[in-house]
Amino acid sequence: MDMPSLTPRPVGLLYGGDYNPEQWPERVWEEDVRLMREAGVNLVTVGVFAWAWLEPAPGRYQFGWLDRVLELLRRNEIAVDLATATASPPPWFPHRYPKSLPVDTDGRRLWYGSRQSFCASSPEYRDVALHLVDRLASRYHDHPALAMWHIHNEYGCHNLHCYCDVSAAAFRVWLRNRYGDLGGLNDAWGTAFWSQWYTDWAQVLPPRATTTIGNPAQALDFRRFSSDALLALCTAEREALRQITPGIPATTNLMTGNFFGLDYWRWARVLDFVATDNYLVGTSTAPHVDVAYAADIARSLGRGRPWLLMEHSTSAVNWQPRNLAKPPGMLRRNSLSHVARGSDGALFFQWRASRSGAEKWHSAMLPHAGTDSRVWREVVELGAALKRLAPVASSTVDGQVAVVLDYPSGWAAEGRAQPSVDMGTFDEVRRWYGALWRAGVTADFAPPGAELSRYPVVFVPALYLVSDNDANALASYVDGGGTLLVGPYSGVVDECDRVRPGGYPGAFRDLLGVRIEEFYPMPAGGSVKLSGGSVGHAWRELGRATGAEVLESYVDGPVAGSPAVTRNGRAWYVGTRLDDDGLDQLVAQVLAAAGVAALVADRPPGLEAVRRRHPDGTAYLFLVNHADAPATVAATGTDLLTGADSAGEVTVPPGGVVVLRSSGEEE
Ligand code: GLA
Repeated sequence: MDMPSLTPRPVGLLYGGDYNPEQWPERVWEEDVRLMREAGVNLVTVGVFAWAWLEPAPGRYQFGWLDRVLELLRRNEIAVDLATATASPPPWFPHRYPKSLPVDTDGRRLWYGSRQSFCASSPEYRDVALHLVDRLASRYHDHPALAMWHIHNEYGCHNLHCYCDVSAAAFRVWLRNRYGDLGGLNDAWGTAFWSQWYTDWAQVLPPRATTTIGNPAQALDFRRFSSDALLALCTAEREALRQITPGIPATTNLMTGNFFGLDYWRWARVLDFVATDNYLVGTSTAPHVDVAYAADIARSLGRGRPWLLMEHSTSAVNWQPRNLAKPPGMLRRNSLSHVARGSDGALFFQWRASRSGAEKWHSAMLPHAGTDSRVWREVVELGAALKRLAPVASSTVDGQVAVVLDYPSGWAAEGRAQPSVDMGTFDEVRRWYGALWRAGVTADFAPPGAELSRYPVVFVPALYLVSDNDANALASYVDGGGTLLVGPYSGVVDECDRVRPGGYPGAFRDLLGVRIEEFYPMPAGGSVKLSGGSVGHAWRELGRATGAEVLESYVDGPVAGSPAVTRNGRAWYVGTRLDDDGLDQLVAQVLAAAGVAALVADRPPGLEAVRRRHPDGTAYLFLVNHADAPATVAATGTDLLTGADSAGEVTVPPGGVVVLRSSGEEE
């Protein structure tokens, strides 16, 4: 399905957050809306956790309070992203249907009293949730405040896997659809090993706790199934909404930067536009790169169309061991970095800080301290800035290169009984992305089988598992003139996690012109020197070039002399995990070989530069300075934020943001 662009009713960029009026007496609502107007809020997400208020008893719905909230918002010209409220069933639901509660791998049923306390395969949950969706859509289908639907909330955040008997039955159905018969299943799972041969479907189970390592192919399929089980719920809600409100776009908030449990490439296809939540982790050494990473994944999932930052935080969150407040100015920079990368707005969790509950220490747009606070002042300033940036809405960002990201491959590589726990996928993709950020190159993400010919360079940081078709697509991409850099431990298994024999890197052996015969993972903290002076970690390989030119080889340890960095025409390979400096150098070398330059030349290290563009050529160069020193670069245009013109050169103050509009010809 083709995703329509994001066309909510407010004009310009969207600004607001989760609004939970059910947590407050009605007398507070008037003040909420007055302050929303003061801050420039034009969209709020209502009802995400309001199921208990909408359906206080089975089949008894009460909408009066929501009617009043929506009417108040309408009168104040604040549009609504109306939630379907299915993310947190009220206590009466599991009390009535105890088998709907999720079960963990040890067989422990998880109680209600938190949120997302349901099994994705529960027929009762599905029925009751869809009933609620139907009632909401029927009641508010023509409400003038309704701009978009917010399906559920952060699917899979807390109930990604359920191992109960109902899930087991649903898993079997999923497996039958995939493999047809038990012969297909036994073959795919390699059940000749350890006498795991299945002779009856009733014997097939989710990967529950076992004596020792379970079957990795079973674990992988269960992860695929779990993603699909939740996706089926999302699709069902989406279809129910489409029946009643075909013209209202619907989305759900993904978590593109730090959640890799769902196969978001499949998910993005059912959404009218992509929305994501992006929270920073206090221990990160480069939070601004984390922001960019999550944003670029979100944009790429939506195939480049405008998307929406549905939630981030004004300051601290509440769910880390140490919840760091954002220093002054960071709220604005984080928000505008998302906008730079294609978000048509910036929304927060949440509007007003809660007094009770698990998130009472989470920051908000309106903090406990009230309006006499730094956060509130920054919130008001951001609202004004976003108004000035209104012309940017619906423009798009062109990625200069692509990075391959595949969820099931990462799940398989991060499963048990791998050669080294240091060979995770998702952190490594993030690390390679960091090298591209530092190189000043705008990156898109792509699934492995995608059509990639428009990119001069494609990076494959970690693709342990690949199907023949997807491997062939990458080979055709190189045949067609593309440049490819592949990281270690890639192409080694097929889509059923079966090793590709004959030498590694399996599916990419011919393409890369190298043949690896043995892996030499390193002890914790170990390193290996390369002939070009760079340093590798975690992984080394014994092998030889079968056609590729050896650019660097290992100089010490048990694989001294084996190739570490190779180049077979336009297909490059690195067989170790280079440290950041080495990775930066290799990435720079590959970019240079393919003629890809930084978006803005001679850029100081902490300056983020991204360009959005309208089809008529009007361009917006976002310059976000994350450093403590002013940053001066060559650029021309009018700063949308200040109205100042710059011809030839612009200086961005420390921590500041400049958005230069140009006709596109000056670039
Ligand atoms: C997620 C959820 C919100 C809230 C925030 C807290 O994004 O969607 O409801 O819990 O996390 O950071």
